[in-house]
Amino acid sequence: MYLHSARLILRNFIDSDLESFLAYRNDPVVAKYQGWGIPYPREKGETFISSMKEKVALKENDWIQFAIALKDTDELIGDLGCHIKKDDIRQARIGFTLASKHWRKGYISEVIPCLLEYLFVDMHIHRVAADCDVDNIASFRTLEKLGFRREAHYVESFLINGVYTSEYHYGLLQREWREKFKDG
Ligand SMILES: CC(C)(COP(=O)(O)OP(=O)(O)OC[C@H]1O[C@@H](n2cnc3c(N)ncnc32)[C@H](O)[C@@H]1OP(=O)(O)O)[C@@H](O)C(=O)NCCC(=O)NCCS
Repeated sequence: MYLHSARLILRNFIDSDLESFLAYRNDPVVAKYQGWGIPYPREKGETFISSMKEKVALKENDWIQFAIALKDTDELIGDLGCHIKKDDIRQARIGFTLASKHWRKGYISEVIPCLLEYLFVDMHIHRVAADCDVDNIASFRTLEKLGFRREAHYVESFLINGVYTSEYHYGLLQREWREKFKDG
């Protein structure tokens, strides 16, 4: 897997990503709205990278986390996950994370369109879904900027670190994406 934007590449994880990966997985501001919990141990990071580097194609009922790296240096700065729904290979779900020192530079809204183009054009995906904590402003602003529609507000629906949090669910159809970003 290899996709690229002006400043970034999306590629498979490689062993040398481990230190950067552990650093942002263990950063409390990055982990705040995520389900992985900290401390995030080294062994889990090693297992994660070895499973991700083997994955070559998106498959039904499977997640791939793609590494987001700086084009100039190949430094890992985050990851972009994609899951293909069980029993429906035309529906996908995405999730995304960046190391905090790289926030607010427009990186995630630069790189997600590369994956959306791949999903909608090459894989003929019909619908892409995403969800986030209602307090995760950066996440839902990103989704809305990329054309996602807020479809639901689930109240105290997701248990994270022993607390029930509320979530927004978003969706983007292929035809909506074409209307917004491709046609005309
Ligand atoms: C969500 C995240 C990936 C955003 O990445 P980013 O590269 O900083 O986002 P961008 O710079 O591309 O900004 C995208 C939009 O969100 C807005 N935004 C980003 N961070 C924001 C913040 N803290 N507060 C308000 N708006 C914010 C930007 O202004 C931009 O909208 P605009 O261009 O209309 O102004 C990053 O904050 C992150 O990794 N957070 C921790 C992990 C996480 O919670 N992931 C989501 C799980 S669902």
